[in-house]
Amino acid sequence: MVKNICCIGAGYVGGPTMSIIAQKNPDINVYVVDKNEKRIDEWNSSNLPIFEPGLDKVVNESRGRNLFFSTDVDKYITLSEMIFIAVNTPTKTEGEGKGYAADLTNLESCAKHIAMISEKDKIIVEKSTVPVKTSEKIREILNKYAKDGINFQILSNPEFLAEGTAMRDLEIPDRVIIGGEQSEKGKIATDLLVNIYSSWVPKENILTTNLWSSELSKLTANAFLAQRISSINSLSELCEETGADIDEVAKAIGMDSRIGNKFLKTSVAFGGSCFQKDILNLVYIAKSLGLKKVAEYWNQVIIINKHQRSRFAKKIIKTIDENQLNKKVSLLGWAFKKDTNDSRESASIYIAAELLSKGIEINVYDPKVELKQIRKDLKYIKISDEKLSLINYSENHYDVFEDSNVIAILTEWDEFVNYDWKTIYSKGFKKKYIFDGRNILDPIKLKEIGFIVDSIGKRA
Ligand code: NAD
Ligand code: UGA
Repeated sequence: MVKNICCIGAGYVGGPTMSIIAQKNPDINVYVVDKNEKRIDEWNSSNLPIFEPGLDKVVNESRGRNLFFSTDVDKYITLSEMIFIAVNTPTKTEGEGKGYAADLTNLESCAKHIAMISEKDKIIVEKSTVPVKTSEKIREILNKYAKDGINFQILSNPEFLAEGTAMRDLEIPDRVIIGGEQSEKGKIATDLLVNIYSSWVPKENILTTNLWSSELSKLTANAFLAQRISSINSLSELCEETGADIDEVAKAIGMDSRIGNKFLKTSVAFGGSCFQKDILNLVYIAKSLGLKKVAEYWNQVIIINKHQRSRFAKKIIKTIDENQLNKKVSLLGWAFKKDTNDSRESASIYIAAELLSKGIEINVYDPKVELKQIRKDLKYIKISDEKLSLINYSENHYDVFEDSNVIAILTEWDEFVNYDWKTIYSKGFKKKYIFDGRNILDPIKLKEIGFIVDSIGKRA
């Protein structure tokens, strides 16, 4: 029986996942630990570090009962029989595989630390997304640093939640995958984790596999999802050229039950911390194995994604130049999708950078992302302080339209749809352009008001 679980990493995965495990298993103590003191303080406050609809309710139900957030990593590793590792695994920025391979430093240092301080046998669960065969590396590290007589079992249990819908995804997951060693001990460990999930997930939705299938399934699922977006986005350009309408095309192909209607929404490009990172990782793995064509195939998903956001920025720049407009754009949305405060790899960052590079001023408004984060995102991609001074942040959506003829919608926040566009039109400049990077607004209604509308995948 597992009585105590520790999860290292209190981020977008560790926090929500453990909150649900604690809610559904009131007899198990769940300790979420992180070296980031500020994050832990926020988890222990009423102002949680991540915005996710429904999360605060689940946290409030269990926090202090059987759900605890702490920076005392050692104490809770020592205490627990099962340790989840949900640390970040970003793309490497230096060394072998730079720009492609996943940086496993955090994960490996956790494994080493667990081995060095553990006084009893433990089950280690890889929750982070990792390259196939990482579990072998983790096993080597655990064996190298383990105290005499201490044994570890490794499980792979990748997470499939999407931000913005994380609580629903965790509550009713399409499937849970648990990969384990094909041995008697491996089976016992797998069963213990299956028991935890089966408190709320139907048994038929819990797949047990070998370790490597589980690891590779996660990378593959993300690659397939991202590939669909790049496919539809590549067609959006074709639609703009031919007069076909991308939403109509997506609906028509999505009604084919073999294709399905999900993940066919054209956009200004996919963002988020994982799609690009995981595909780059897949490309790296394929290249390392000498599978050049396979690597090229998946790399194309990234190429189209970059092309999509860049062509969106270029359309705006061209409109401003050709019509000699005020060099100011009202940018609505900074998060990489609605219902999250996460802006990692958001298309907004790159589109803003391209506009700034042409000396265009930007008024930005996002319901959940703050100026500090926006500046941090731009600094991360090496935007100079001089260019950063062209960013104006609006606390509310009314100021964002000041002195600007051009509005760009980059995140599909519901509130943007519900704005009083008539009143917005009547403010400031008379000639107003809307670039709808999410196709959330009705172009016919906007045109009736007087806007000049450019929706992705539709002829302007
Ligand atoms: P995150 O950056 O939000 O959180 C990771 C946390 O781990 C950070 O708070 C960091 O301080 C902590 N950490 C790192 N090293 C540590 C150490 N040695 N000791 C203690 N704490 C440490 O990352 P995330 O978005 O939660 O992603 C975590 C993993 O889950 C990644 O591998 C990611 O690919 C995967 N994943 C993410 C999502 C998502 O929607 N964000 C979904 C599925 C899978
Ligand atoms: C994605 C996957 O959906 C999750 O299953 C996975 O667990 C997660 O990555 C991960 O490994 O991190 P997430 O990135 O949070 O989840 O959000 P998605 O809903 O997948 O959206 C990703 C990006 O694609 C967003 O920028 C979104 O706006 C865009 N998108 C999504 C489209 O442009 N069109 C679509 O039809 C769907």
